[in-house]
Amino acid sequence: MIDPATEHVLITGAAGAIGTALRVGLRPAWRRLRLTDIRPIADPTNNEECIVADIGDRAALDRMMQDVKAVVYMTGVGGDYTLEDLFRVNVRGVFDVFESARLAGVQRIVYASSNHAFGCYPITERVTPALPPRPDSLYGAFKVFGETLLREYFERHGIRSVALRIGTFRSLPIDQRSLATWLSPGDVARLVDCSLRHPDPGCLIVNGYSNNTRIKTHDPNWTFLGYRPQDDAENHVEMLRAQGVNVDGPWEWEEHGGSHARAPERRAK
Ligand SMILES: NC(=O)c1ccc[n+]([C@@H]2O[C@H](COP(=O)([O-])OP(=O)(O)OC[C@H]3O[C@@H](n4cnc5c(N)ncnc54)[C@H](O)[C@@H]3O)[C@@H](O)[C@H]2O)c1
Repeated sequence: MIDPATEHVLITGAAGAIGTALRVGLRPAWRRLRLTDIRPIADPTNNEECIVADIGDRAALDRMMQDVKAVVYMTGVGGDYTLEDLFRVNVRGVFDVFESARLAGVQRIVYASSNHAFGCYPITERVTPALPPRPDSLYGAFKVFGETLLREYFERHGIRSVALRIGTFRSLPIDQRSLATWLSPGDVARLVDCSLRHPDPGCLIVNGYSNNTRIKTHDPNWTFLGYRPQDDAENHVEMLRAQGVNVDGPWEWEEHGGSHARAPERRAK
């Protein structure tokens, strides 16, 4: 267990959407947060220490790991990224952060994986985190790389970790698929909080959703982790219906990865 009162936790990608939700949800209990991002981090409180750095700056990573007991990896490229950017952040960046953490004696890593790590499974299949990955894209394959690296860090170095296969993180659900995959801001903080506090998660993979009525996966490892989500996308179904979203018709996606599983692969520019 990581002690929220005394131990330093480093959050990477802290200026991003999930990083910002984690700051809001974690800072009342977690007294020593170290935050890093390539972008400035807004309005730090007195228990937050901010470091602006590129994830590719290994010397900066090594410095910021000092005295850190746990790392929460939330860095990511979004929008119109190239495959080069994706590789640099989601493969090389993941390696550098994990390796820097290992050398600094970090004991726990919480990692932002994704639904796209298993996105090629048919929606009708009983999918659990125990099944082999079936990534639906290079993005998904690189997320599996991070999960695999965590397995090696557990087997060889004893570092405990929780990989969160995050579904759709938004303030509210946005479409039919997110009625199954939504992860609310409050629940992402609860999920990371219990991933840090658990006495021994081993090398765990969990699904990262709220308590959605329409969840399509099974045995998400929440009971073992002690995660008790409090939100349900179904409470927002009227809002979606009013927006013209097809919430009553047949399920639109044949695979767990939704549109990713069918979209053309992005080419390196
Ligand atoms: N949002 C979702 O629905 C979702 C779903 C599955 C997985 N994830 C994963 O969760 C993580 C966080 O997602 P998010 O929605 O908060 O994304 P986001 O884009 O809002 O945040 C990512 C942060 O990473 C930072 N970053 C990018 N390149 C960097 C670099 N070279 N050096 C340092 N920092 C850099 C960005 O500045 C940004 O603040 C990502 O790894 C993403 O792949 C998100």
